[in-house]
Amino acid sequence: MKAIVTITLNPTIDSSCQAEEVRPVLKIRTSEERYDPGGGGINVARVIRELGGEAIAVYLAGGLTGQVLTDMLERSGIDRRLVPIAGNTRVSHVVYERSSGQEYRFTPEGPVIQEGEWRACLDELGRLDAEYIVASGSLPRGVPEDFYVQVARIARRKGARLVVDTSGEPLRAVLAEGVFLVKPNLRELESVVGRRLADAAAQEAAAREVIEQGRAEIVAVSLGADGALLATQGGCMRLKAPEVEPKSAVGAGDSFTAAMTLGLAEGRSPEDAFVLAVATGTATVMTMGTELCHREDVERIYRDIKASQKRAG
Ligand SMILES: Nc1ncnc2c1ncn2[C@@H]1O[C@H](COP(=O)(O)OP(=O)(O)OP(=O)(O)O)[C@@H](O)[C@H]1O
Ligand SMILES: [Mg+2]
Repeated sequence: MKAIVTITLNPTIDSSCQAEEVRPVLKIRTSEERYDPGGGGINVARVIRELGGEAIAVYLAGGLTGQVLTDMLERSGIDRRLVPIAGNTRVSHVVYERSSGQEYRFTPEGPVIQEGEWRACLDELGRLDAEYIVASGSLPRGVPEDFYVQVARIARRKGARLVVDTSGEPLRAVLAEGVFLVKPNLRELESVVGRRLADAAAQEAAAREVIEQGRAEIVAVSLGADGALLATQGGCMRLKAPEVEPKSAVGAGDSFTAAMTLGLAEGRSPEDAFVLAVATGTATVMTMGTELCHREDVERIYRDIKASQKRAG
């Protein structure tokens, strides 16, 4: 398997719990607390590991919470490179309300990053041997919007393939530089092409446009419960997400990106990696809160999709 390195500039300690009802003033009693190491690239590394692969997570962390995060990564056995920062690593909260089945997600903005800190992250990346680099997640305050452009240049120098899952200006900027694989959701694809994409044909046209303009070699658009769309030089492919009872969408996009990257690194075709990606995103939706996917669920859903593709010829 080819070496995969993920980058997380704004990681988090993801805490999740349940409450009967979320309401003001009165104490809200919670249960089923769990804590997971999180943030885009760290989630990607966790899922790659769950699926039997390996990835190195490069991450920024600081303060007491940063120490806890490092400890959590250590226990989960994820290979990692810490870039220390002066600020405190953030703690996110997800509260599942049993009475409504709704999920409340509290996501702090996280610490301000100093120039020396984000530069140290680029230096660390420059030292690592990587064939795939996954840049996933938003950029924290203090990090320039062309940070992922600088990552793309390091990737090019190394001959590594860059996978990007982010939004807004950092996404537009890195696509102008050119990436190997981009995983926008529908909103992110709309912001990249600058127009609403009302139906399947419009979505396919937009994904093809990104490829034809040389901004990405592969575009995998995740469409939530509707599944996903794959565009390559060879054409487009759509896949409906299997119907499951959704528990929590936390980390579905990261899980999709992880499986797509792992599949390609294992030498699968883009189409096959895409089936694995949809299966993995869907498997993550079946678990509560910040828990991601279980390998058995991914394998079962993957087999089901493959079998139905076979039946359809
Ligand atoms: N309700 C659902 N039912 C089944 N599968 C789902 C559902 N929601 C998401 N998925 C699966 O997860 C994949 C990624 O989800 P989604 O498109 O919501 O990512 P995202 O918008 O990037 O999410 P994130 O908030 O994690 O960034 C989808 O392509 C699909 O396979
Ligand atoms: Mg996403």
